[in-house]
Amino acid sequence: MSDNGLAILEELEILEPVEDAGEDYPSHIGLLGRAIGLGKAEDTDILPSIPAALNPFLTSLFPVLFVNRNLRIITTNQSCDKLFAGFPRMQGNYFFDIFGKFFQVEDIRKIRETIVGGKNGYSWKGETRIKSHDMATVQTRVYIFPAEIVKKPEQFVVMFDDVTEENKRLLRAVFLSLLEASKLKDNDTGKHITRVNYYSKRLAEELYYSLGPQYPNIDADFIDNIGFLASMHDVGKIGTPDDILNKEGPLSDWEWTVMREHTKNGAFILSTYPNPMAKEIALAHHERWDGSGYPFQLEGEMIPLAARIVSVADVYDALRMQRSYKPSLSHEVSVSKMMEERGTHFDPFLIEVFRIIADEFDKIFETNRDNG
Ligand SMILES: [Fe+2]
Ligand SMILES: [Fe+2]
Repeated sequence: MSDNGLAILEELEILEPVEDAGEDYPSHIGLLGRAIGLGKAEDTDILPSIPAALNPFLTSLFPVLFVNRNLRIITTNQSCDKLFAGFPRMQGNYFFDIFGKFFQVEDIRKIRETIVGGKNGYSWKGETRIKSHDMATVQTRVYIFPAEIVKKPEQFVVMFDDVTEENKRLLRAVFLSLLEASKLKDNDTGKHITRVNYYSKRLAEELYYSLGPQYPNIDADFIDNIGFLASMHDVGKIGTPDDILNKEGPLSDWEWTVMREHTKNGAFILSTYPNPMAKEIALAHHERWDGSGYPFQLEGEMIPLAARIVSVADVYDALRMQRSYKPSLSHEVSVSKMMEERGTHFDPFLIEVFRIIADEFDKIFETNRDNG
């Protein structure tokens, strides 16, 4: 039995016994017990085929699967296989063995009442977030309804409506407009933030593919998120007075104090973003490995990993960029300057990974140069 199944089994204690769970099964096992492979279900539960009238579902663009009354998966369509590629084989397995951990206990209870007890016309509608380590979170609406219009249906359609991209687009659009507003004030040239996204994503990918076990927090979601959120690192500069932001020449102590506030302002602005990574990057991208950074002088791994990554990306790009007060440095000089800061400014492990893929940083810079 999978861990999943065990977790659900623990929850069974709070579930009502199922009256009509089936003739061949002890009643205390109930539908969910059968669903996770208890009792005789394995031996006797022969999977039927899908009625021809339901064939359109099999070619539907919506991910669809069929379950029987025991919540055993009869078959899946191609869109479903594509959406859940990398998941265990579905056909013949129990729905909650595969998907149980993505549903609230209350939802599991309701789904069971729907299919066993016929509540709401054997139909259920809800939402869930489905993910695996290799796959970014998929937000879906889930619809369950009978596959046949009879008094006591034997087969059910489970349809997933993937709303991830739609939600992500809406959410990111809101924060992108904030970023645009901050760009109007900041003297960083246009493509700096785009390049910082690319470098950060590339570093995270390298950590994931080459050093995965050492960085269990990096998964498909982390890579996708840092590739967007790295660009937000200086969004707090929207609250920095223009005369300080655009001052030519050195800042006074007091002006530096105000300038450093952009980290806290950024965290404040991004506190409504659903993923805490946004806040971490804004708040901690100027912290240094040896504890000499700002705003909180965090040290070593106290600095969130996403912020340590963005710090490498941001400094590399700042060195390469031409500014009114400095010339553009070559790739080689920039890399050697950064290597000198191994263990002082930068995470020493991360900077080694940076060195290995540094040529790709150069390529990113060259192909995304600022015009003029
Ligand atoms: Fe900054
Ligand atoms: Fe920056």
